[in-house]
Amino acid sequence: MQEKVIILDFGSQTTQLIARRLRELNVYCEILPYNKFPKDDPTVIGVILSGSPFSVYDEKAFRLNLADIPAALPILGICYGAQFMAYENGGSVEPAGSREYGRAKLSFVNSNDPLLADVSVGDQVWMSHGDTITSLPTGWEVIASTHDVKVGAYAVPGEKRWGVQFHPEVFHSECGTTILRNFVEKICGSKRDWSAASFIETTVAALREQLGNDKVVLGLSGGVDSSVAAVLLNKAIGDRLTCIFVDHGLLRKDEFTSVLRDYEGLGLNVIGVDASQKFFSELAGVEEPERKRKIIGKGFIDVFDAEAHKIVDVKWLAQGTIYPDCIESLSITGTTIKSHHNVGGLPEKMNLKLCEPLRLLFKDEVRAVGRELGMPERLISRHPFPGPGLAVRILGDITPEKVRILQEADDIFIQGLRDWGLYDQVWQAGAILLPVRSVGVMGDERTYEQAVALRAVTSTDAMTADWARLPYDFLAKVSNDIINKVKGVNRVAYDISSKPPATIEWE
Ligand code: XMP
Repeated sequence: MQEKVIILDFGSQTTQLIARRLRELNVYCEILPYNKFPKDDPTVIGVILSGSPFSVYDEKAFRLNLADIPAALPILGICYGAQFMAYENGGSVEPAGSREYGRAKLSFVNSNDPLLADVSVGDQVWMSHGDTITSLPTGWEVIASTHDVKVGAYAVPGEKRWGVQFHPEVFHSECGTTILRNFVEKICGSKRDWSAASFIETTVAALREQLGNDKVVLGLSGGVDSSVAAVLLNKAIGDRLTCIFVDHGLLRKDEFTSVLRDYEGLGLNVIGVDASQKFFSELAGVEEPERKRKIIGKGFIDVFDAEAHKIVDVKWLAQGTIYPDCIESLSITGTTIKSHHNVGGLPEKMNLKLCEPLRLLFKDEVRAVGRELGMPERLISRHPFPGPGLAVRILGDITPEKVRILQEADDIFIQGLRDWGLYDQVWQAGAILLPVRSVGVMGDERTYEQAVALRAVTSTDAMTADWARLPYDFLAKVSNDIINKVKGVNRVAYDISSKPPATIEWE
């Protein structure tokens, strides 16, 4: 059984970071809404209470019945979590004189406390709070302070309860990892055995149990998430998994055939469907970006559904949904439910049970699992690519000729990034075909042809992004190659917009 730490989410922006840090410590953890503590789960070895945008004394503040958590389970409260435990037990929490934000140094540390082993006076922590604990419940002990914050951290003698006012999960808390490691290792007794290999072992066993002899269908996109999900499922149930890879005609140059070959090489039972004619005819004359997306989304579902129906007796639809998508859908305010970008609506339409074996993994963990499964690096470290493909990179209406032009230009750009060792330094890159023509001169001839924009960005999560500072020499070479080799293009521009206010894709 996989031991786990539960992180109860009171709405802090850094809750996901707590999970990241624990996973980096090889500790499996799950984020749950603050009021969803799993009472009867014997695999839980400890609990962390996150920060919150609220004050504990706010009427609307999120409250948890602390008695729901067995006394034997260690709890670490972080910021609001620490204040909440103190407040609920008779301590006082008040607005700090001024909002405390930023770096602070520990001025007192009781390093005999197991939480603070190897932490010293002078270590830097990160503060971000408007409230402060002004008095602790009787008998509770201050175990760390900063110049401005007396109750920097506390312990409850004889009980397995700790609180820290600062944020150990934030990079700027230099001793943060030590504190989290102390909590999980010394206090919760974690074996710290979470790894890609252990994930594969437990997940394959769990999938066999969940799926029995049922048949499963999965839509492959060529992206890392669906590919890893497929290989994992294949390991669990072999040919009872059928994968469907739909070519909407808007993939990168030669991508359909090369990725299909990779999939077959991995031993997947995969059906490749060339539906490009259907998509081209449905998209003909359509310029509006959202309509393009809708047409492609619906077309994809139709093709997938028709193929899946040819398989007798399918019970499950598998998807490569990953953790960040799920955390958003757990959002405690209850407003955001993010449907899977490419196959939204598919589970409802097909009336199948949903199987999402990667739903608890972060992106880098998905990659680690893929590598552990022996998948080729070109599938694992592939840039993200939008579900609607080149349709959202051809501004204006779409024709097969425009797709050809863009595929050629994009291919030169991407191949160039690989040749120059730049591919892995950018988050994502691609070419965009602009709906303008401009005058040029080639040899003795005047040209009047289309312009292509190149886009390459750095990012960690696609929520924000900056334009990649690619070397001028590289851009010069790629621009030259595109103009010389791609018939129909006589001008290349480089997009230097960041997100926000721009987005990564142009449509
Ligand atoms: P934007 O353009 O919103 O893109 O900054 C953020 C990330 O999402 C990708 N993207 C999509 N992916 N279906 C997808 O699967 C879509 O409709 C879609 N739109 C944008 C984009 O490539 C970038 O990685």
